[in-house]
Amino acid sequence: MTEQRTQPIMSGIGLKQYYQVSQGFMKPKGTVKALDGIDFSVEAGKTLAVVGESGCGKSTLARLLTMIERPTTGELNFDGTNLLTLDRETARELRQRIQIIFQNPYGSLNPRKKVGTILEEPLVINTKLSKEERKEKAISLLQKVGLKPEHYDRYPHMFSGGQRQRIAIARGLMMNPKVVVADEPVSALDVSVQAQVLNLMMDLQKELGLAYVFISHDLSVVEHIADKVLVMYLGKVVEYGSTEQIFGTPQHPYTRALLSSTPRIDPEHRIEKIRLQGELPSPLNPPSGCAFHGRCEFANDRCRVETPQLIAREGAASVACFGVDEGRLPYLSARVG
Ligand SMILES: Nc1ncnc2c1ncn2[C@@H]1O[C@H](COP(=O)(O)OP(=O)(O)OP(=O)(O)O)[C@@H](O)[C@H]1O
Ligand SMILES: [Mg+2]
Repeated sequence: MTEQRTQPIMSGIGLKQYYQVSQGFMKPKGTVKALDGIDFSVEAGKTLAVVGESGCGKSTLARLLTMIERPTTGELNFDGTNLLTLDRETARELRQRIQIIFQNPYGSLNPRKKVGTILEEPLVINTKLSKEERKEKAISLLQKVGLKPEHYDRYPHMFSGGQRQRIAIARGLMMNPKVVVADEPVSALDVSVQAQVLNLMMDLQKELGLAYVFISHDLSVVEHIADKVLVMYLGKVVEYGSTEQIFGTPQHPYTRALLSSTPRIDPEHRIEKIRLQGELPSPLNPPSGCAFHGRCEFANDRCRVETPQLIAREGAASVACFGVDEGRLPYLSARVG
């Protein structure tokens, strides 16, 4: 099989986001390394999933990609341009091509505004379209997301959670984005509604050639929709590869632990249980060496001192783990035949 190499629509190199935080009266300020050197890329029409426990930096990454925040350092490329070196005007234009959908469709839509007004807001701010043209576009997008033209004049509270998320998706598409960052877009919805919204997102992706950066706790959803998966732990990437690689032959003990706590229907895909020991450490005071060592049953002295780098491997996912490098980990084949 020859690997197809397409130019990514968006990529990041060495992205870091450090926050200075107060640690209390008379105490020196501390540094939270919310993101500590993230590389990724996503192609048009494809989905990159970002997974990891609460606090590992997923939403911080979402805020950097959508230029809500500027990173401490790093490079952020969109369609061949580094967004962080642009003048304000060009950056303002390009950022419209990258939209975000948040987890909570109750908080993200202004309850005092009608759906039509909510949808047209980005057009009012960023385009010279007439009132009629704006309305036409809003109604066409309402229909695209499975809602009706008469919903244009209603208020958000008149809709269910799933419908509100459809409105949020429609709003995200008003400026014809190329990249949509979805931060847990279905986790606030009833399970029965989640699949409908995910199917809508996948249909829209196909129709519009959208690239998704899909942030999720739910690995069963990720397996279903992602092309590539980035596994994060305390602000760093521990494993990065195709969905097939991550779910078929997971290597990092953390990836394996995440997967073994996810119910899998297909018995061929069940892997031996790895239990996560202990709690997620604080990013204010991360452990020395490999940040995962305190919870890893395979850790040795080297893991407690040295920090593993993410290493690319021919035909396999990139992994940051000395245990994998040294062949110290038991080989856990997910597809035992
Ligand atoms: N503005 C900020 N100032 C200080 N610390 C912050 C700030 N924003 C995020 N953090 C810290 O950075 C780390 C990463 O936070 P982030 O919200 O990106 O995690 P997450 O992976 O999205 O978590 P969750 O799954 O709970 O949404 C956390 O320790 C958080 O407390
Ligand atoms: Mg988050």
